[in-house]
Amino acid sequence: MKYRDFGKTGVRVSALGFGAMRLPHEDSEDEIDRPVAIELMQYAFDRGVNYVDTAYAYHGGNSELVVGEALANGYRERVYLATKMPVWEVESYTDFDRLLDEQLAKLGVDYLDFYLLHALRGPRWDKVRDLGVLDWVRRPLSDGRIRHLGFSFHDSYDRFVEILAEYDWEFCQVQYNILCEDVQAGTRGVTYAAENGVALVIMEPLYGGSLAQPPDVVRAVLEADGSSHSIVDLALRWLWDKPEIGVVLSGMNTLEQVQQNLLSAERSGVGSLSPDERELIGRIQDAYRTLSPVPCTKCRYCMPCPNGVDIPRNFEMYNQAMLHEPGRTVNRINYAHMTEAERAAACIACRECEEQCPQGIEISAWMPKVDELLREQGG
Ligand SMILES: NC(=O)c1ccc[n+]([C@@H]2O[C@H](COP(=O)([O-])OP(=O)(O)OC[C@H]3O[C@@H](n4cnc5c(N)ncnc54)[C@H](OP(=O)(O)O)[C@@H]3O)[C@@H](O)[C@H]2O)c1
Repeated sequence: MKYRDFGKTGVRVSALGFGAMRLPHEDSEDEIDRPVAIELMQYAFDRGVNYVDTAYAYHGGNSELVVGEALANGYRERVYLATKMPVWEVESYTDFDRLLDEQLAKLGVDYLDFYLLHALRGPRWDKVRDLGVLDWVRRPLSDGRIRHLGFSFHDSYDRFVEILAEYDWEFCQVQYNILCEDVQAGTRGVTYAAENGVALVIMEPLYGGSLAQPPDVVRAVLEADGSSHSIVDLALRWLWDKPEIGVVLSGMNTLEQVQQNLLSAERSGVGSLSPDERELIGRIQDAYRTLSPVPCTKCRYCMPCPNGVDIPRNFEMYNQAMLHEPGRTVNRINYAHMTEAERAAACIACRECEEQCPQGIEISAWMPKVDELLREQGG
C-alpha cells in the first residue's frame, strides 16, 4: 500500500480508504450483510488500508455498528476511524455531546481519529455554528474523544472558502473525480484547501459508481483507444496523481472491487500517470461533456437573479444529472436542499439574466426543464 501525507494533521494515510456507505446489503440497504462487509473491510485493512469512513446516517444507522465490529480484534489500533456528526439532527448545544457519545458507544470505541460535521452546505453550517459547535468542540478535542476535526461538503466553491475561513480545520472531505473538476468545491477548492494545509479526503471518486458504467459515447473512446485501460483504474489514479489529495475513499461491496482498487492504489503516485493516460482521460472527459446540454461556464454574469434563482448551480446540477442513469447521483439531494427561491422552478421568465449571458443561453426556456428533471430524480 502507498501512504500519503495528510495536511497539517501529521498523519500518514493509505492512498485508498474504505467508505462504509455502500456496504453489501440485503434487499433493504439498512440490512447490511454483516459477515461479508466485515470480511471486505478486514481484507482491505490486512493489505494496508488504514482509514475507514462511516457516518451516523449510513445504512439507516447500521454502518457505525458494523464498522465497529470490523475494527474489533486488534484492527482499531491499526486503522484510523472517521465518522460524522449528523448536523441536521442538532437542535441545541446539548445535542453535540449526546450525538458524539451515542456514536462512540455504537462504534464500541472511546475515541475517534477523525470527526466530521456531515455534508455541510449553506444553512446547515449556519445553524450548527450559531448553536456553538466551534465552542463545544474544544471539549472533545481536549478530553480525547476526538483527535481531528473536519467537515464534509456539498455546496459551491464560494461557500467552501467561507467555511474554511471560519475555523482552523485540519481536514475536509469533498466530492471530486474526473467529472467534478468544476463542480462543488472542484479543483479550485482542492487547491485552496491544500494551500492552507487542510488535508483532503475524497468521496465519490467514481461518482458513486457511475464511472464504472460509462455511457456509449465514452465506451467508444475507450474502444478506439485500443488499450486495456479500465476507466475505474484511470479515474482513481487521476486523483492520486495530484499532490493535494490525501486519502481517496471508495465504497466497495465485492471482493473483486476491493482487489481491483488495491491494485490501482499500488500503482498510484503523484505524477505517475503517463502522457498517454492523461490524454485518454482528457478524451473521456470531453466525451462526457458532449452529454451536458447547457453551455453554462459559470461566469455568473447572469447573477444576481432578481427572483433569487441560483442559475449557475441549477445548470451545474442539470448537466451533471444528464451524465448518469437516473437515481445514481447526489444531484437530486442537492436540489432538494436548495431553498425554493434558489430552485429553477422559481424562475418567472423575466429574462433579465439572458441579456447578461455571454453564451446566449435561453435561461428562461431551460429552467422548467431543469426543474422537471431534478425534481423527478427525487428533489
Ligand atoms: N460526506 C458525505 O456527504 C458523503 C457522500 C458520499 C460519500 N461519502 C463517503 O465517501 C465514500 C466513497 O464514496 P462512494 O461510495 O460514492 O465512492 P465511489 O467509489 O465513487 O462509488 C462506490 C461505488 O463504485 C462502484 N465501484 C467501486 N469500486 C469499483 C470497481 N473496482 N469496479 C467497478 N465498480 C466499482 C461500486 O458500485 P456498485 O455498487 O454499482 O457496484 C460502489 O458502490 C462513501 O462510501 C462514504 O464513506 C460521504
